Amino acid sequence: MNKNERKPLPWTTILKITLVTGCIVIVAGIVNREVSSQGFQEAPTGFDNQTNGMIEQVTFNQDRELFEKRDTIEDGLGPVYNAQSCVECHQNVVSGGSSQILVVRAGHRDSSGDFIESPGGSLIHDRAIDPSIQEYVMPSETIRSQRISLSTLGDGFIEAIDDQTLLAIAASQPGQSRGAVSGQAILVPILESPGATRVGRFGWKAQHASLLSFTADAYLNEVGITSRLEPNENTSLGRSVAAFDKVADIEDSDNDIDNIARFMRATKAPSPDVALAQTSDARQGGQLFSQIGCAICHVPNINTAAPGTSTNGGTYIVPAALGNKVIHPYSDFLLHNVGTGDGIVQNGGRETAFKMRTPPLWGFRTRNRFMHDGQSLTAEEAIRRHGGEASSAASKFNQLGNRQKGQLITYLRSL
Ligand code: HEC
Ligand code: HEC
Repeated sequence: MNKNERKPLPWTTILKITLVTGCIVIVAGIVNREVSSQGFQEAPTGFDNQTNGMIEQVTFNQDRELFEKRDTIEDGLGPVYNAQSCVECHQNVVSGGSSQILVVRAGHRDSSGDFIESPGGSLIHDRAIDPSIQEYVMPSETIRSQRISLSTLGDGFIEAIDDQTLLAIAASQPGQSRGAVSGQAILVPILESPGATRVGRFGWKAQHASLLSFTADAYLNEVGITSRLEPNENTSLGRSVAAFDKVADIEDSDNDIDNIARFMRATKAPSPDVALAQTSDARQGGQLFSQIGCAICHVPNINTAAPGTSTNGGTYIVPAALGNKVIHPYSDFLLHNVGTGDGIVQNGGRETAFKMRTPPLWGFRTRNRFMHDGQSLTAEEAIRRHGGEASSAASKFNQLGNRQKGQLITYLRSL
């Protein structure tokens, strides 16, 4: 740390640090495997609508129905909203997965450079139950972004990662030198434990740490359903929509948010394509992935906390089915500036405006539009867009021959 602060490092040293960190990551992987024989187990994977063991299958099916339920105006839908159910945007290839659906965010910068969200919030709802309250991007909101839907499969394991584990990954990255990888962890509020914070890990901005918090946020902001954790209805560009709201708040009077969060917690992690992973192309590609520095951010192995660990401000205890598991998310869940940031701030400081969370690459083959804006239509295009902290990895990728590039992409498709 201090070593890096003294003076800018020459590129050769940076390269050495990168290589050393790469080795640490690899060693950590080996250590994980050893540990796994001492009580850590592989997390269950599969795109099969089956519980990961946290709850009974019959309960899982009931919880999934609430994730899939279409809310109507009589249920409290809107008045401004994006879709009628969670599954509408989280469906591929099973309920809880991702989709091609994009949402719109907007805001502007004030004279001091701070991000100011569009009146009523940076999310601009695409739908309304009356034309007079339709939201739109106002010309004054010069920062505009689209965000593609993320998968929630296996998120229970991500929620079960200790803050310390994520902070240790951040500390292992090369640090402050120009262009070097330096992931940022942000502390975000836990809605169900007022005053408590935890390292954010969900969403393109790592804006949430708790799946219950994310559920309440999404139920309000995507579907327009108020709950005990988000009791206040959205506005239309800052104007009250109370005159159009036919259902008294709190609309989620049955506390469906608890079941929806439990559904996501009980999903299996995305499964790899085992046959493809065993091909020599995929194996070669995997070596290249580590060698050129992709794995510094897209971390292959992470352990979850021990069963019984108290998290989310004391409101959630890591269940036996999720604790002491080895997962392969290919993410560090940290924020990085890779030159693609959208300028929007959510739950982080102003320095996060141009950073994005490393997206997990597990289940990569179930997606066909990449990066936060879904604008990269091939894996190669997505990799080419990496700059900033990922410049070194991206330029090493560009120097690979076509055959090697193909191997690396085959590897991605096997994850
Ligand atoms: C209109 C589409 C849409 C609907 C409806 C929707 N989501 Fe999402 N979801 C998204 C998008 C887009 C993101 C990424 C948001 C971001 O970070 O900018 C996301 C992200 C998430 C994440 C974070 C996943 C991760 O691992 O980082 C969770 C959890 C989630 N949604 C849960 C839900 C739940 C629960 C519901 C229903 C109450 C829901 N969503 C409804 C579009 C949607
Ligand atoms: C400094 C950290 C970092 C490094 C190093 C890095 N990435 Fe990424 N990667 C990111 C971030 C952050 C994003 C999301 C950027 C965005 O959405 O604007 C991303 C996005 C991606 C995506 C798109 C995934 C999706 O679901 O949309 C792929 C594919 C990917 N990276 C592959 C690679 C490969 C291959 C390498 C090595 C050549 C690499 N990355 C190196 C941080 C990194």
